[in-house]
Amino acid sequence: MAVKLGFIGTGGIAGAHLNTLKTFDDVEFVAMCDVSEDRAKSRANEFGGKAYTDFRKMFDEVDMDAVYICTPPFAHGEQERIACEKGVHMFIEKPIAITTEQAIIINDYVQRSGVITSVGYHWRYQSNAQTALSVLRKEKKILGALGYWMGGMPGTPWWRVRAESGGQHTEQTTHIFDLCRYMVGSDAATVHGVAASGTMTDIPNYDVDDMSMVNILFKNGAIANITSSCVMNNWGRVHLEVFSRGLVVMIGGPGPLVSRNGQAEEVPQVPGMDRDRVFIDAVKTGDRSKILSPYADALETLKITSAASKSFITGKAIDL
Ligand SMILES: NC(=O)c1ccc[n+]([C@@H]2O[C@H](COP(=O)([O-])OP(=O)(O)OC[C@H]3O[C@@H](n4cnc5c(N)ncnc54)[C@H](O)[C@@H]3O)[C@@H](O)[C@H]2O)c1
Repeated sequence: MAVKLGFIGTGGIAGAHLNTLKTFDDVEFVAMCDVSEDRAKSRANEFGGKAYTDFRKMFDEVDMDAVYICTPPFAHGEQERIACEKGVHMFIEKPIAITTEQAIIINDYVQRSGVITSVGYHWRYQSNAQTALSVLRKEKKILGALGYWMGGMPGTPWWRVRAESGGQHTEQTTHIFDLCRYMVGSDAATVHGVAASGTMTDIPNYDVDDMSMVNILFKNGAIANITSSCVMNNWGRVHLEVFSRGLVVMIGGPGPLVSRNGQAEEVPQVPGMDRDRVFIDAVKTGDRSKILSPYADALETLKITSAASKSFITGKAIDL
C-alpha cells in the first residue's frame, strides 16, 4: 500500500524532498498546499495531488497518512496542531518554530496524539556524522566543540527578517547546534550569546545579526562555541569540530574526519541513511526507532537558539 502524502509549503526544500520521494514506488502525492497558488498548482501538476492555498481546507478534504511541513519558521504551529488532531504523521523542516513557547505547546499535542514526527536535521543521517558518532561514543569524556556556519546570505526574502526566520542562528546554524548536541550527547544547561550588526545597512528589510557567537555549557560538563555569520561573500566555513583528549573529530570540514594525537586516523565507515526513506518506512511499519530527530528532540535544539536570542538582547547567560 502506498503512503498517501500531502505537502504544506511547496518552495525550495519541498522540491528537494519531492524529487527524492518521487523515486520511491510506495508513496502517492495527494495534496500540495502553498499560500502561493501558482506554486501549489505547479507542484501538483508535476508530482500529483490536489492544489490548495489553505491547509485547513486541505486537512478537511483530503485523506492522508503523512504530511511534509516545509513552511518558513514563522509559519509553524497551526498546521502541526491540526495534523495531531487528525492523526496525520509529520515530517517537519527545521527549525520547528522561532521560539520555544510555541514549540512546547505543539510538543504536548504531538505526545498526546502519538503521531510519528521527524524533523529535517539531515546532517545526523550522513555517513560522516554516523562515523564520527561511532568514534566519540567510545571516548570517556568529550570536552567540547567548536562549530561554524559562516557564509553568504540566503536569497529567500523572509530569511533576513528576524520576526520571520529568527535570524541565522535559529534558521541555518541550527543544523550545527543540533549536530553539536548529538555529538556531545547531552542537552544544554546554560547558554550565553553575543551578536554584532551594522555592515548590511544597504540590504532592504534586513534586521538580523551579521555575526553571532553562542557559548553553551552542556549538562554533562562539555562546552561549545558556535559562530554564525551571513556577510562572508564568497567565503565559507561550515562545520563542527569535537574535542576530547588528543582527539579532534571534524564533521563537514576540510580536514580528516578523525585526528588522533596530530595524525589522521582511519576509522570504519558507518553508512548513512536517507531521511525521507527512514520517515516513510516509519509511517509504513509504525517502527520509529530509526528516526534520529523526533519533534521532542528538535525542541531541545530550539531551546538553545531561543535562549541565545534572549541572551543577545539581555547580555545575560540563560539557564535552561
Ligand atoms: N534541512 C535543510 O537543509 C533545509 C534546507 C533549506 C530549507 N530548509 C527549511 O525549510 C523551510 C522552508 O525553506 P525554503 O527554502 O523551502 O523556503 P521557500 O521560501 O522556498 O518555501 C517556503 C514556502 O512556504 C510557503 N508558505 C509560507 N507560509 C505558508 C502557509 N501558512 N501555508 C502554506 N504555505 C506557506 C511559501 O509561499 C513558500 O512557497 C525553512 O524552515 C528552512 O529552514 C531546510
